[in-house]
Amino acid sequence: MATSSAPLFMIMLGAPGAGKGTQARMLSEVLGLPQVSSGDIFRENLKLATALGLLAKGYMDRGELVPDDVTIDMVMDRLNRLDCAGGAILDGFPRTLAQAEALRRALAARDFRVSLAPLLEVSDDAVIDRLAGRRVCRDCQAMYHVAFSPPKVDGTCDKCGGQLYRRADDEPETVRNRLFVYYKQTAPLVGYYFAHGVLVTIDGDRPIEAVQADLLAAVRAV
Ligand code: AP5
Ligand code: MG
Repeated sequence: MATSSAPLFMIMLGAPGAGKGTQARMLSEVLGLPQVSSGDIFRENLKLATALGLLAKGYMDRGELVPDDVTIDMVMDRLNRLDCAGGAILDGFPRTLAQAEALRRALAARDFRVSLAPLLEVSDDAVIDRLAGRRVCRDCQAMYHVAFSPPKVDGTCDKCGGQLYRRADDEPETVRNRLFVYYKQTAPLVGYYFAHGVLVTIDGDRPIEAVQADLLAAVRAV
């Protein structure tokens, strides 16, 4: 779907389990823009046992944020790749005011800016249900839920046939800490992007397709 010719950098905001990854992936397919997910990049590094992956593991297992300097460098490297020249859908970054400012400066240096920051609003109870039932494909990272969006064959990815697994940080104890960290460190970004005139609030407590329709309408309105 063509919108405007200006690069579209959009930020998916929302608590853990709000549906950022699910929606970012669908938007990426529809808009033809790369999905840049900091969590996916950390997990890929962990799978490959890189120094970055091993450093991130302890933080991720505890549901804490990986330090800003490491995270900012990693995401900036990704955004400097050629496929992000026309924009990107950022999923899970920024997550602190320092990250948001680093992103603003990096985009401004290229005469770009964040055009849209949709906030997916979901209740804490829904988050806990969603993460308890989430399954992810080991190979293509496609997202499923045992009740809300189950795969056709139990444990197997519909898209690539890969094996589905449960994320280590989806244990209820870790989810509670991730929610705490979200309210403390990431929720201030809602005010930040409101002040920049790009915040759009979307009710994320509805079926995936309804949320997607609102997101596409918000993109068209940019
Ligand atoms: P990350 O991977 O980003 O995790 P998160 O933000 O906690 O978000 P999730 O991926 O858990 O949820 P989501 O909103 O993507 O929901 P999803 O679409 O999967 O980060 C993991 C860790 O990495 C962090 O804790 C931190 O340690 C580190 N990290 C990452 N980025 C960082 C950063 N910038 N700075 C520092 N550290 C960082 O959906 C969830 C489930 O719900 C799925 O099963 C899905 O099928 C289902 N679902 C989705 N939408 C709906 C719907 N509308 N109705 C019903 N079910 C739905
Ligand atoms: Mg995600």
